[in-house]
Amino acid sequence: MQKTITVTVNEIKETHRVQSNQTLLSFLRETLDLTGAKEGCNEGECGACVVLLDGKAINSCMTLAVEVDGHEVTTIEGIGNPDSPHPLQQAFLKNQAIQCGFCTPGTILTALCLLAENPNPTEQDVREALAGNLCRCTGYRQIIDSVLEAASILQKGVAR
Ligand code: FES
Ligand code: FES
Repeated sequence: MQKTITVTVNEIKETHRVQSNQTLLSFLRETLDLTGAKEGCNEGECGACVVLLDGKAINSCMTLAVEVDGHEVTTIEGIGNPDSPHPLQQAFLKNQAIQCGFCTPGTILTALCLLAENPNPTEQDVREALAGNLCRCTGYRQIIDSVLEAASILQKGVAR
């Protein structure tokens, strides 16, 4: 069965017919051609597909497109750009927290959600928030350092 949904993705309103069993991940990647969210395990275990739904980090492989009708979705394509990267993206690049990059979009969006809720996290807070974002390459140290560094930079920006 098909249904028409209207969803705001990266501040652009999109109206499309979707299958009732189409995942949000498939909708983003195949219908909207937003391929930043990655398909890893496809069963809610790896975090490669994380996007923000009304500001909360969710696994888009475990969410149906019909469930986001009327809501706001943010993908990595909506966070900064090559000319003006987000402080999280700058910190990931500086600290070499990106190797193959497969986990990076989901990790950055999870971190963004954390910093919105807790602008001054401890290392333990970061570790707990990122527990669902698996990275096979970096060993996590650089990722955690990057999130803490971005938090500090963003905090200074607020304090100015
Ligand atoms: S692809 Fe969604 S959690 Fe792994
Ligand atoms: S950088 Fe390769 S999986 Fe994280």
